[in-house]
Amino acid sequence: MPSIQACLFDLDGVIVDTAQFHYIAWREMAQDLGFDLTREENERLKGISRMESLEIVLSIGGVTLSDEEKLRRATAKNARYLELCMQMTPDDALPGVRHFLDELKRNGIPSGLGSASKNAKVILERIDMLHYFDTIVDGNRITKGKPDPQVFLMGAADLNVSPVHCAVFEDAVAGIESAKAAGMLAVGVGEASVLTEADMVIAGFENFGLPQLENI
Ligand code: BG6
Ligand code: MG
Repeated sequence: MPSIQACLFDLDGVIVDTAQFHYIAWREMAQDLGFDLTREENERLKGISRMESLEIVLSIGGVTLSDEEKLRRATAKNARYLELCMQMTPDDALPGVRHFLDELKRNGIPSGLGSASKNAKVILERIDMLHYFDTIVDGNRITKGKPDPQVFLMGAADLNVSPVHCAVFEDAVAGIESAKAAGMLAVGVGEASVLTEADMVIAGFENFGLPQLENI
């Protein structure tokens, strides 16, 4: 495996656990429309843009809405999501992730964020982690969502590192696909039984560092 010269991180589920807030906000919307959304169904929304997620949720409930109403619902869901996110503090960063980002900095390896979220900067500011990232590629910049490789290819280009020398950290199946399509090393954060296409799967960043990354 070529040596790693840059690391690209997904946000939700890798840096911080905001998936629970997305779930609460989508579930409340579903219930308001007369159906429930299970945790299992919520898995399908990980890594997927807001409007695409809305389409999936509506299809689960068999609900059809006008474009105007879809926009209104997505805006309301986002307002509720952000309200829930405001409960977070810097302590909400996932265990070990700050330590790993510090290790990368000490070793001169740049870090980038590659997220579908349009709220990425607000969330990173909230947990006081914006300064860790040399570039931010988020839902406001990309035109093609995961599993398309665009988000990570843009990150690599920003950092001026060839994709083959980049490692991606992702908790979503769509994100692992995106990393592999970009020709990068894909490190799954979560369960190996779910992230089957990843080059390696870690449960989290505790007990993980550069030596482990270089051994993949
Ligand atoms: C991803 C999440 O990071 O961002 C998805 O995994 C979410 O669940 C997507 O839909 C878009 O987020 P936002 O914050 O722009 O609604
Ligand atoms: Mg994620």
